[in-house]
Amino acid sequence: MKIVLVGYMASGKSTVGRLLARQLGIRFIDLDDYIEEHQKKSIKTIFSEKGEIFFRKLEHQMLNEVLGKEESLVISTGGGTPCYGTNMATILDQADHSIYLDVSIPNLLERISNEKEHRPLVKNISNEELPEFIGKHLFERRPYYRQAKHILDCNGTDAETVVEKIKELL
Ligand code: S3P
Repeated sequence: MKIVLVGYMASGKSTVGRLLARQLGIRFIDLDDYIEEHQKKSIKTIFSEKGEIFFRKLEHQMLNEVLGKEESLVISTGGGTPCYGTNMATILDQADHSIYLDVSIPNLLERISNEKEHRPLVKNISNEELPEFIGKHLFERRPYYRQAKHILDCNGTDAETVVEKIKELL
């Protein structure tokens, strides 16, 4: 069984994915960590040294590699993963369950404004400019996220509750 979590930066994909995998007794792969291990560099360094296009190609390649594994997996993707090339179509084709962790703009803002540093796409955006940036970005990205098989409203819920809700969907 393959479960793929999609959603915007800071929507809780990694935390929820790790917890869910532990409870289901299957392996967890965080796509960003997988890319960092493959490149032996942080996402931030990959962006600054090689640029975003290089990262997107790598992300595409690594997504296919991970989805091609024989074992059962919970996979948390990066916020941009479903929004480039054929990635969302591949996720829909290969995953038994794709789940969009839907978090509102105000809640995302609160989370992201406190943890921008390791996120190359937002680290140079001031907190004043952040609402407009996230609003526009989500407007572009939501159509991809919303193609997921399940859409979970994650506002006002902690990771444990989100995991319980996911287990009900499986
Ligand atoms: C990105 C999100 C990041 C990471 C990269 C690009 C994006 O992952 O893949 O910085 O395009 O939204 P998280 O969603 O885990 O922050």
